Amino acid sequence: MTEQFDQIYDRRGYNCIKWSRNPYDHPDFIPMGIADMDIATPDFVIDGIRKRLDHPMLGYFRPDERFFQAILGWQKEQYGTADLSREDVAVQTSVLGGVASAVRALTEPGDGVLVQAPGYFNFAQVINGLGRRLVTTRLVWDGEMYRVDLEQMERQAVENHVKAFLLCSPHNPTGRVWSREELEAMAGICRRHGIPVIADEIWADLVFDKAHIPFHSVSEWAAHNTISLYAPTKTFNMAGITIAYSVVKNPELRERFERECQSSHYNLPNLLSAEALTAAYESGAEWKKELCAYLKNNTELAAEFFHQNYPGVIVPAPQGTYLLWLDFRPMGLGSDELLERFGKSGLYFNDGRTCIDYGDGCLRMNAAMPRPRLLEVFRRIGEVL
Ligand SMILES: Cc1ncc(COP(=O)(O)O)c(C=O)c1O
Repeated sequence: MTEQFDQIYDRRGYNCIKWSRNPYDHPDFIPMGIADMDIATPDFVIDGIRKRLDHPMLGYFRPDERFFQAILGWQKEQYGTADLSREDVAVQTSVLGGVASAVRALTEPGDGVLVQAPGYFNFAQVINGLGRRLVTTRLVWDGEMYRVDLEQMERQAVENHVKAFLLCSPHNPTGRVWSREELEAMAGICRRHGIPVIADEIWADLVFDKAHIPFHSVSEWAAHNTISLYAPTKTFNMAGITIAYSVVKNPELRERFERECQSSHYNLPNLLSAEALTAAYESGAEWKKELCAYLKNNTELAAEFFHQNYPGVIVPAPQGTYLLWLDFRPMGLGSDELLERFGKSGLYFNDGRTCIDYGDGCLRMNAAMPRPRLLEVFRRIGEVL
């Protein structure tokens, strides 16, 4: 299967956001910004969509039992979530849409919502856009990995009268896969202060070496106080046909959340996306395993490249996702200089300054690309540095 992931496709001319931004107009530009993969969506997903198109009508529809069984089967097989029932699951058009509905359901305008920093930039956009207060708790680098500073997290939650915690697990942008102990400790803080949790677990499938632990599974309190969001879109590279789903085990919380979801009239599922999700979850286990091995290899190669050649750059050992959080501050390099120097050699990274409160001198790198291209990225980084 590796050959399949190694194949290079030209995505230009297909309105692909990632490939439409070439700030220095480089003729052989390599974008590593937007979080989708330069790896083809698997055939069984495309075939699932194609098969539905054999019937010439695309009118209003409702996801069928097979759709929900595919989700329940995937949850059980991949995350060991055997106790979910059909009622716990609802369709969401996208994960961020679900996050926005959850923020509205759990908080009022002006309320504080806690997120970890660095963090996914669109979290800030959603929280600020809904008139809530963005409250941050900084992850700390312990020389080996980014960790939750539990004392600081609790202090920030209490001092800022936080009304919801928006957790990203696994974590964008650091690639951290939270341990059970960390998840339990975060749940403990939230329980002590009555703070419900929105768990964005869109990256749940891309975990190396161990199984993803759903936040709602870490304690009884978490099961009753968490709105979780998942999607097949990162895993199977199908974010352009948005589809996601929520898991809420507490019926009261679910009703509150569902009311918000429905009031926006935003959550009408897309027929072809539903077919794609069903096909992905029914047939995708083996493909996903191979993909994870490939991404692990890519991210490890990238981390090793920096460790060996530029030990001044802080790069955590990969645990999951395909994102690398590169901290150039020990080398005395700021974001503007880095973006310009890399940009001129045709490399584009996300500016760490956009990743919530953490970092002039940090860049986010997306390593989900065919390996031959990754080697070219290393060559150019070498030239620049
Ligand atoms: C943590 C996280 N949540 C949500 C999204 C976007 O999800 P969706 O496209 O389903 O809104 C992303 C995309 O990068 C992400 O990294």
